[in-house]
Amino acid sequence: MVAQVIDGKAFAARVRAQVADQVARLKEENGIIPGLAVVLVGEDPASQVYVRSKGKQTVEVGMNSYEHKLDADTSEEDLLTLIDKLNKDPAVHGILVQLPLPKHLNEDLVINSIDPAKDVDGFHISNVGLLGTGQKSMVPCTPLGCLMMLRDYHGSLSGMNAVVIGRSNIVGKPMAQLLLGDSCTVTIAHSRTKDLPDVVRRADIVVAAVGRLEMVPGDWIKEGATVIDVGINRIERDGKNKLVGDVDYASAVERAGAITPVPGGVGPMTIACLLANTLTACCRANGLPEPEGLTA
Ligand code: GUN
Repeated sequence: MVAQVIDGKAFAARVRAQVADQVARLKEENGIIPGLAVVLVGEDPASQVYVRSKGKQTVEVGMNSYEHKLDADTSEEDLLTLIDKLNKDPAVHGILVQLPLPKHLNEDLVINSIDPAKDVDGFHISNVGLLGTGQKSMVPCTPLGCLMMLRDYHGSLSGMNAVVIGRSNIVGKPMAQLLLGDSCTVTIAHSRTKDLPDVVRRADIVVAAVGRLEMVPGDWIKEGATVIDVGINRIERDGKNKLVGDVDYASAVERAGAITPVPGGVGPMTIACLLANTLTACCRANGLPEPEGLTA
């Protein structure tokens, strides 16, 4: 079997168009413009690229973008003061503090100082708890993007065997919660899992989110399974810089029923879902109906 390739780039463009549509309606009918504040501390080059891209896409869908760039030696007190100001600002509906933070800042403390209703990353402990108990929450962007693609491809996920490889707070754990919410039978696998190939071979859905270059070979994949590759590993191959996933694409594409490529799969969905979350937060803040198809 040769897999259908799930085009994350095209999917993300559709999500952004949907967001832009609803933002235009909000503006016209309610005079409201959703606003996203992004806070970057320090000069990490990868973070600078992400933040620039987030700001650009925010403006492209018609939202207001507020960028706060702070020095690498910013004190915790100053950062918390800024977050407090953003929490109280009615023009700001979403707040994202770009991670990782410089080592002298307590990441948990900083994230948990964001108003949970504005926590468009879904990292605040209240949102983690709400998601875990099946209540309305802000959902982390990457797992939300994976869920949207899975729902789009399968319709219902009910009763499917899903394995999530990786147990990070940002992807693995929330992904497992979302799949459970859609009535999958979920296994969370990780570096200590015994007989990982057998665990993966039983899965109808494989989400690989370990950050290890091509660690899932095609012969672990059940014939016809859906493979979502969250890995973004930068390597040099044939003298060129390349991005490759956690799945060995060349062999997996021969066995899977559907697969996301790297690049062009999950990656573009993350910022699209950040915009969707900002729109959702804005609608909730104003007591308006939530956008359809853009939430978990
Ligand atoms: N750094 C890398 N990915 C992310 C993300 O999704 N959110 C935040 N806040 N920081 C990141």
